[in-house]
Amino acid sequence: MDLWAEETSFQLSLPVGLDASELIVPAENPITASKVELGRTLFFDPRLSYDGTVSCATCHSPQLAFTDNRPVSIGIYSQLGTRNAPTIINRVFSSDQFWDGRDDSLEDQAIGPLVNPKEMGMPSFESVTSKVQGITGYREWFKEVFKRDVNIKDIGKAIASFERTLVSGNSPFDQFKAGDTNAISESARRGFDLFEGKARCNQCHSGSLFTDEKYHNLGVDWDTDTVDLGRYKVTGRADEIGAFKTPTLREIALTGPYMHDGSQATLEDTIEFYDNGGIANPFLDIEMRRPARTLEETLAFFEDSRNRTEEPQTGTDLAKLELSEQERADLVSFLETLSGEGWQHARPPTSFPEQ
Ligand code: HEC
Ligand code: HEC
Repeated sequence: MDLWAEETSFQLSLPVGLDASELIVPAENPITASKVELGRTLFFDPRLSYDGTVSCATCHSPQLAFTDNRPVSIGIYSQLGTRNAPTIINRVFSSDQFWDGRDDSLEDQAIGPLVNPKEMGMPSFESVTSKVQGITGYREWFKEVFKRDVNIKDIGKAIASFERTLVSGNSPFDQFKAGDTNAISESARRGFDLFEGKARCNQCHSGSLFTDEKYHNLGVDWDTDTVDLGRYKVTGRADEIGAFKTPTLREIALTGPYMHDGSQATLEDTIEFYDNGGIANPFLDIEMRRPARTLEETLAFFEDSRNRTEEPQTGTDLAKLELSEQERADLVSFLETLSGEGWQHARPPTSFPEQ
């Protein structure tokens, strides 16, 4: 692509299974081909970190579906973070960013890691701006794209635009949904029935991205002495203590280890975690305490007048799923059908702008 070409508006072509009406592109940051290319270059450029060793791609690597395959990430000076790096695929469909949703746009999110002392470690936004402005190639490129000097907001806008082009759809499951019955195995089909039925995963993992975009406490890390309070730290709401954003399940086979602290190494382990009902704690999500029943079973249950006033189980009660070994394997087979396409084209640039 000619970097200095006239701005052309960018057409996001969405693979099967994704919903164009759910795209979030702010009016003040339209996607253009040149902005995406600038954002891609910034995303992969380690010079944006304090010691020049860490780029966004260090923790969101294209080879690993934009994750780092570590329980928690490692930033400059080999510092360990406290949370697992989520994929940045399909972020164009969400407003809330981070496990606790503390930023509500990709533009705001993109500049945070630059100055996070444990990630890219720049001392201030001003220092980022002057470092980028000091590289002649970038200075001219920003002039071209934004018609002004480098500033932190435009850095965020460029990176966000690049991220918006990373999507995942047309997975075997999408083809199955579109009518190709043989696109997924019999085991995966049983897994999907469990996902929507007995294992009630779709209570939270719903919609085309398999997330309700809401916050739930599953008890992850409540069996350790370092409990992360999650969403509570953002909202101060007692009912969100230990709650984290339901992550997308697209590309899930590639993005382990799992959960906000990376405590589940494999998909099998994750299913076992759910089978055991999560981890008991006083703030466990109500959906985790509801007995696993199909809609028919629930209706039949409440037919009986003695049951009408049933309160959901309270406190630390866990509702185990009681899955058989076969059922656990079927759920994993289903999750493995959610790997698709729409992001594999993204590669590091062959060169970076010069001083
Ligand atoms: C040192 C590792 C590291 C670096 C470098 C890093 N990230 Fe992240 N990223 C993470 C971790 C860990 C999280 C989750 C943190 C949290 O939720 O509190 C995250 C979260 C995100 C999210 C939110 C995803 C979601 O599902 O909510 C986006 C988007 C993102 N990073 C983009 C970037 C961009 C853009 C850069 C470069 C400017 C970057 N990251 C640099 C580790 C890193
Ligand atoms: C009560 C809502 C809820 C239900 C029910 C639920 N999930 Fe989750 N899921 C979440 C949340 C929230 C997280 C992140 C939790 C955390 O890290 O603290 C998560 C995490 C995951 C992850 C790890 C994702 C990642 O990127 O690390 C997988 C895989 C997963 N769920 C699959 C399932 C399956 C399969 C089921 C059904 C057996 C299920 N979930 C049921 C809300 C739910």
